[in-house]
Amino acid sequence: MAMASEREKCVTGIEGLDNILGGGIPTKNIVLVTGTPGTGKTALAFEFLVRGAIGGENGVLITTVEAKSKLLENIPPLVFYDEKALGKRLTIMTLRDLLDEAGISSGKVDEPVMDMLITMLEKLVSSTKAKRLVIDSIDTILPDRKNERLNTYFLTKLSEMLHGQGTTAILVSKAASADSGIGSVVDGIIQMSNLERKGDLLRTMQVPKMKGAAHSRAKFVIDLTTAGVLVTTLLKGGI
Ligand SMILES: Nc1ncnc2c1ncn2[C@@H]1O[C@H](COP(=O)(O)OP(=O)(O)O)[C@@H](O)[C@H]1O
Ligand SMILES: [Mg+2]
Repeated sequence: MAMASEREKCVTGIEGLDNILGGGIPTKNIVLVTGTPGTGKTALAFEFLVRGAIGGENGVLITTVEAKSKLLENIPPLVFYDEKALGKRLTIMTLRDLLDEAGISSGKVDEPVMDMLITMLEKLVSSTKAKRLVIDSIDTILPDRKNERLNTYFLTKLSEMLHGQGTTAILVSKAASADSGIGSVVDGIIQMSNLERKGDLLRTMQVPKMKGAAHSRAKFVIDLTTAGVLVTTLLKGGI
């Protein structure tokens, strides 16, 4: 029987994550990074872009939660992030800027607004030659988890766009759980969680799904450090 040829990988550059994924995220995948506030979603997604920039891959960050200035202030100092050298590879925009540029003023994101948003994203990804896209978070674009038709519409269109551009995406969400409709449409899920152990609140990371990759499904303890996300321990039973 012929072996399926291995998918090309987007090496995230986050060593522990690449190990879990067996090399990286299969290129052009849409990966949902989900978890409650404070679990390290933004840290992981931002490092994904910075590591890409270090490796010569341009990235786009669409932030919906914070003003651009506030976001940059809140990013903890990563020892390997040299803004002078890497800043030109990273394009950071707020969703509001993107919508304003498209002339979209209404708060409601329906199919026509989604079409315009995807067109704007495509222009941005194409003009910056971005190989990595992060949207942090998608909760304002897809506010109704139960509206599977609309959510699937957006994710399918986004997937088509990413395939055309050869771009790999991380979508951050605090609301879309792995077993939600959104979780079933995306190509991969990275689940970030808290774990209380002996009075400490640890952070964990787990990959329940990643199309095109032979990956670990174990839960790992992570540390957020100035050297980035460190995957420290493999949790075993009895903890
Ligand atoms: N590299 C880092 N070093 C130390 N602390 C960090 C680092 N990155 C993030 N943190 C802290 O961890 C917390 C959660 O990180 P964040 O990525 O913002 O979580 P989320 O996006 O899931 O809400 C924040 O309070 C932040 O200050
Ligand atoms: Mg965040």
